[in-house]
Amino acid sequence: MTMLQYKEIEYKPAGQFEETRCEKIHNVIFNSSLDASKVVAAEIAQLIKEKAQQNTTCVLGLATGSSPIKVYEELVRLHREEGLSFSNVITFNLDEYWPMQPDDLQSYNHFMHEHLFHHVDILPENIHIPDGTIAPEEVYQYCVDYELKMKEVGGLDFQLLGIGRTGHIGFNEPGSHINSSTRSITLDHLTREDAAPSFLGLENVPKKAITMGISTIRKAKRIVLLAWGISKAEIVQETIEGGVSSQVPATYLQEHENTTFVLDREASDALTRIKTPWLVRACVWTDELKKKAIFWLSEQLKKPILKLTDKEYNEYGMGSLLVEEGSAYELNIKMFNALQHTITGWPGGKPNADDSTRPERSTPERKRVIIFSPHPDDDVISMGGTFNRLVEQGHEVHIAYQTSGNIAVSDQDALRFAEVALSLNPEAQNIKEVIQTLVSKGTNELDTLAVRKLKGEIRKAESLGATRYFEVPDAKVHFLNLPFYETGKVKKDNLSERDVQIMKDLIESVQPHQIYAAGDLADPHGTHKVCLDAVFEAVGALKRAPFMKDCWVWLYRGAWFEWQPHEIDMAVPMSPDQVVKKRKAIFYHQSQKDNVMFQGNDAREFWVRAEDRNRLTAEKYRALGMAEYAAIEAFKRYYF
Ligand code: F6R
Repeated sequence: MTMLQYKEIEYKPAGQFEETRCEKIHNVIFNSSLDASKVVAAEIAQLIKEKAQQNTTCVLGLATGSSPIKVYEELVRLHREEGLSFSNVITFNLDEYWPMQPDDLQSYNHFMHEHLFHHVDILPENIHIPDGTIAPEEVYQYCVDYELKMKEVGGLDFQLLGIGRTGHIGFNEPGSHINSSTRSITLDHLTREDAAPSFLGLENVPKKAITMGISTIRKAKRIVLLAWGISKAEIVQETIEGGVSSQVPATYLQEHENTTFVLDREASDALTRIKTPWLVRACVWTDELKKKAIFWLSEQLKKPILKLTDKEYNEYGMGSLLVEEGSAYELNIKMFNALQHTITGWPGGKPNADDSTRPERSTPERKRVIIFSPHPDDDVISMGGTFNRLVEQGHEVHIAYQTSGNIAVSDQDALRFAEVALSLNPEAQNIKEVIQTLVSKGTNELDTLAVRKLKGEIRKAESLGATRYFEVPDAKVHFLNLPFYETGKVKKDNLSERDVQIMKDLIESVQPHQIYAAGDLADPHGTHKVCLDAVFEAVGALKRAPFMKDCWVWLYRGAWFEWQPHEIDMAVPMSPDQVVKKRKAIFYHQSQKDNVMFQGNDAREFWVRAEDRNRLTAEKYRALGMAEYAAIEAFKRYYF
């Protein structure tokens, strides 16, 4: 199978998908955004080469944002290692913030040069990016000319797109007309919130942009839209399955005859054929799918599992499951028990108990545990109750903070601490310098090393406050400061051998029976994803070490997203008192309270989110027919 077959085999014009009666846009789902990006880059590379063979230019419409980064990385690799030339390529970028200086770190001009243009042999005169410095009275004519230039070179052969959570393509926000062309547009609040982290605050995000229009985009001969991650799942579903509407501008692509949406698993999560496949096709009933379907049915009918009937299974597309399992009665009991057996108050295993139906082993009684926490607060936010239990139940618990989390401390907080430090030692020159830098720091300016160090120390002290509260000795608290994070910018480096080595060293020295890691991939900067990759790589590299035979890996979620009941392998209930104790531990992370810098798409404070999610999981268990708990923390086992 060649890399390009996704297009050749699976492409069918809209309205002709057999098993996907709900879908109106051709889409393909990949296991990872990396695999997907390579396939898209291969399609672009092939097009460039075909055009070169025909001695003609290849006109590409390009996007910025997080989605296309790996496509550009792969194109750069193809240029460097396989001789792909961009000498016949002409590019037009979708959009640019307005006003915006081209060399500003946040400008799309800077982005494109950093990720692609600086690294390939494209001719500078062939690069077109809307100009964010254009005077207001000239914007209109500028946009007309941008369109004309595209037309003069024969129109776009290929348009790469991302999708915003508002359903925008380019910066065509809800309300955009199907006939719109390149123009100035006011950005939606949600779009500006999503951009806020890279501008270090919402107030710094421009309110306007210049964008290609819907009609400009739809004139492209081929369109590929990329969407990664759970935060895109809902808008992807609305776009692919909903009706065409100016409220979701990406739905205009339903009427384009050569568009493919390229998705990773998470972004496809809300599509009917993924979320409830039994409604649209015959299914192979794996254990996980059975759970998913039955818990879904129970939720739809608002009935606990044990009350579901044969008739209801048949009515909701699960007749084949009944045929496999016998009857609703037997199936219900089996599923009820499976769910019941995920619940334990002994996350490290219950000593001297029969563990055949428990999520964890009863031996060894005292386990060595490492809790990996991407930022210095995810441990308590996402699994504070379980963390506390593990310590109280006598296990040797190590906490490993993977990154320093320094960029998430505000300048005001840093200044406050620096001033206290200076009051204790009024002569300290280095503290005076830090104060001076903070006071004179301009918007968008990067922190100096000294300021980053101070911010890191603030988070370290907060973490120690929380771990001491849970009575973990300081010697068991590890600050790994993984190098990939230490760029001083929102944009981080890729994971390197050095990061993985640091992780491996800790795992080898502790030789844990349990590793907990954040499987919560929806954080706004992708740090959790990199931290999880670091865990997977370290565990993968060590898997032949004898001690690893006894090591189980548990993934937690919570700060941004939660496991759903069918995904949960271990559910640790909490009493109301334990909920309060967890809350207090989270409160130690004062720099992340109230005016948190990187709020993401959720306005609630972290402790509120955590409590809501833990309460919701308990409610879901209750609705499925389990006992009623105040809160539940949930874990999924990762097999390596
Ligand atoms: C970027 C653009 C936008 C982004 C969209 C998704 O040039 O026009 O439409 O594609 O906002 O952004 P990411 O990929 O960062 O999620």
